[in-house]
Amino acid sequence: MHHFHYVGQNLHCESVDLAEVARLYGTPTYVTSAATMADNYNRLANSLTGLDVQLCYAMKANSGLAVLRHFARLGAAFDLVSGGELRRVLAAGADVKRSVFAGVGKTEAEIQLALESGIFSFHVESEPELARINHVAGKMGVKAPIAIRINPDVDAHTHAKITTGKSDNKFGIPLKFAAAAYEAASKYPHIQLRGVQMHIGSQLTEIGPFAEAVAKVAPFAAELKAKYGITYFSIGGGIGIVYKDALASGSAAWWDAQPAATRPLTPEAYGAALVPLLQPLGLKILLEPGRYMVGNAGVLLTRVEHLKRGSGKNFLIVDAAMNDLVRPAMYEAFHEIVPLHRDTTRRALVADVVGPICESGDCFAKDRQLQEVGEGEYIALMSAGAYGSTMSSRYNTRALPAEVMVQGSAFELVTARETFESMIAHEKIPAFLK
Ligand code: LLP
Repeated sequence: MHHFHYVGQNLHCESVDLAEVARLYGTPTYVTSAATMADNYNRLANSLTGLDVQLCYAMKANSGLAVLRHFARLGAAFDLVSGGELRRVLAAGADVKRSVFAGVGKTEAEIQLALESGIFSFHVESEPELARINHVAGKMGVKAPIAIRINPDVDAHTHAKITTGKSDNKFGIPLKFAAAAYEAASKYPHIQLRGVQMHIGSQLTEIGPFAEAVAKVAPFAAELKAKYGITYFSIGGGIGIVYKDALASGSAAWWDAQPAATRPLTPEAYGAALVPLLQPLGLKILLEPGRYMVGNAGVLLTRVEHLKRGSGKNFLIVDAAMNDLVRPAMYEAFHEIVPLHRDTTRRALVADVVGPICESGDCFAKDRQLQEVGEGEYIALMSAGAYGSTMSSRYNTRALPAEVMVQGSAFELVTARETFESMIAHEKIPAFLK
């Protein structure tokens, strides 16, 4: 459920007319809905009643300072993966002390920064990494709290590039080697065994793989609690969102109309299946949701530049491109596309929706049916709140997009559009070319 909907014929985010945002701040511009993020956070937290839960928002999904501050105020901690993300948490005035640090290649400097900031725990992916954390903690004269990431070898049934829980992925330690890894970890003088972690993949829309993975790892978590006194089990992130019927899925009526067998995973179904498996452990349960928290809370606004009618093919050329939102090019991801001004009297148009970048991969949608739109009109790419702005680049020397946050009838620019000067600020001509 979310807060993007038509008021009359005009697409609104909460009480704000998105065309007004586009006119004021230009395009391409990301718009996020604070109410949707709050609903997502509260709904997930409420679906896990009965557990001692710490929600660690996976900030790689959307790490804008405004987003971080919003989740921090709601009570979230963070799942971070770099020194840069850690510094963003601090810059947002949020809490590192309940946050966790994941990733397969943490540098010594990043480990030191995390220890200085009082990180809740490191999620360790390999034995060499454990040795490195022990080494850095030793130099600082402290003990580093850790959890080892277990790879449960479960098929998440998701896109190959975002599945992580199979044994042929680079992530974690296979369950059969995990006891030995904890045994080795317990011998390091500067390591404190605090928990156990897993994450099987992203954009999972069914409960099966989550339940299978939790059932596989829970007995091991119980053993670790008995043997080493660990206090938490992080079950990772991965809850999927609706991309195909993105706009319609904003309403409760859409969800009610879905047949139970094919209804996408809800937080309530997630909680109902997992709480009984987790409750007997008596451990704190960490969650690392990224996409679920922000995915349906954001859209990318873009302006139509031209409608190019080709032979047997139409191209709708817009001012956003794969540098702004790379998911369609990178994962063949589907994003619903809707006009900001709806007009049911217009003819339908079937077109490839493409950006101005000089490669064929710069395509948001192929043969998509839309209402006919022309130069200067605006459209929105839905469900762009997760892995949109955080994966944007400057390819073709295109400035990073602006970002606006809405709450009720208030809206504010939270990331100004990059300027040409700031794009080239770190470059210089070498002396030998002067
Ligand atoms: N925890 C760990 C250890 C992760 O690696 C990830 C995501 C998450 C939590 C959050 O997963 P989520 O709840 O967002 O599914 N760029 C891709 C998604 C990459 C996900 C990477 N890891 C996309 O645009 O689909």
